[in-house]
Amino acid sequence: MDGVKDVVQQKYGEAARQAMKGLKADCGCDTDGCCSGITSGLYDDAQASEVPGAALLASLGCGNPTALAELKAGEVVLDLGSGGGIDVLLSARRVGPTGMAYGLDMTDEMLALARENQREAGVTNVHFLQGEIEHIPLPDNSVDVIISNCVINLSADKDRVLAEAFRVLKPGGRFAVSDIVYRGSEVPEAIRRDMDLWAGCVAGALAEGTYREKLTRAGFEAVDLEPTRSHTIDGAEFASAFIRARKPAAAAKTCCASTCCA
Ligand SMILES: C[S@@+](CC[C@H](N)C(=O)[O-])C[C@H]1O[C@@H](n2cnc3c(N)ncnc32)[C@H](O)[C@@H]1O
Repeated sequence: MDGVKDVVQQKYGEAARQAMKGLKADCGCDTDGCCSGITSGLYDDAQASEVPGAALLASLGCGNPTALAELKAGEVVLDLGSGGGIDVLLSARRVGPTGMAYGLDMTDEMLALARENQREAGVTNVHFLQGEIEHIPLPDNSVDVIISNCVINLSADKDRVLAEAFRVLKPGGRFAVSDIVYRGSEVPEAIRRDMDLWAGCVAGALAEGTYREKLTRAGFEAVDLEPTRSHTIDGAEFASAFIRARKPAAAAKTCCASTCCA
């Protein structure tokens, strides 16, 4: 899809500016049930108290991957599309000073906000990276857990994202992601072409079965998809879901976008 990245960057740049002014960020999607119905009430009070208010205001996820990812002390975590940094900051506390939490985002305003939130939170085992989830700027086999919160649906090249996730995970590494999925076989064309709904994390959603197939094709095993909340948008059925998978412990190949190389 041409222009998806520009639209996404513009909408999330604006969302970051809203949060910096102390306003609740939204994804710029006006359709009923889109955005607010997806992003509200994801973190409990204990988690909310662990992060600066601006990180919570900028929260635009559709789940709570850190609560479900079972992070352990000393692990390296990477958050794809880290936004205002809420899940990176929560992860950093879970993995502790011997671990590291990376956040990757392509939108400058979100990175500025995330770095400010890190400063306010006073956590040092965090590094925010500028870049695209289709080209992760980290070496092969360097990450224990990939998390992400409502971002992979925004990519126009999901095979590439999953191949990159597979590449940077260590053998045995976990993929533990919240995302929007479509409950039917294919998102209706009228929704898919709507750029506001694309930026609102809906139009680019994969059907559940397609998500599983793509993860398996990228080399993952133990693929599991658990719907956590339902959304009806423009008459179509979507769900927030928690998606788990694992890179095989003995994975010897690095899969590129369409081929597998040695
Ligand atoms: C829906 S927000 C979610 C932010 C964060 N995960 C959260 O839970 O609040 C999507 C974020 O992903 C970033 N993003 C979208 N597509 C991206 C891509 N292809 N590469 C890197 N970042 C991307 C946007 O800039 C934005 O900050």
